[in-house]
Amino acid sequence: MHNIQWKSEYSVGVDDIDAQHQRLISIINRLAQTRDEAMTSDELFAILSDLVDYSDYHFRTEDNYMMENEYPLFLSHRKEHLAYMKKMGSMVQSHKNKKPGLFEEMLSYLSQWWQTHITESDLRYARYIQARKKE
Ligand SMILES: [Fe+2]
Ligand SMILES: [Fe+2]
Repeated sequence: MHNIQWKSEYSVGVDDIDAQHQRLISIINRLAQTRDEAMTSDELFAILSDLVDYSDYHFRTEDNYMMENEYPLFLSHRKEHLAYMKKMGSMVQSHKNKKPGLFEEMLSYLSQWWQTHITESDLRYARYIQARKKE
């Protein structure tokens, strides 16, 4: 239900960034799958840590790309990345505290956030930078 399917409409036209988005989606889908498996809390924590680390790496790639291309909405885009990292930090904490219902909340946040962020915010910088390169 929270599985995300990569679509060509998600492409930002930069191979590295598209590959990172695909990998992020696959980690989230892996997380969604764990619901149907007997997964220990440590195994779940390992997937979550992987997601947090890889998200951080991805955001650094994008932040650099936007800066290099003098994207005017860079700061507001970066704010979205920071808000996500903050939210993930608090969810990892809630996971440690074994908060009930967290798993569903986390998956719906992740699937919603990534689909909206890619199709709205990421595609906005992609269109801007593509147009700028054609000038
Ligand atoms: Fe982004
Ligand atoms: Fe992105």
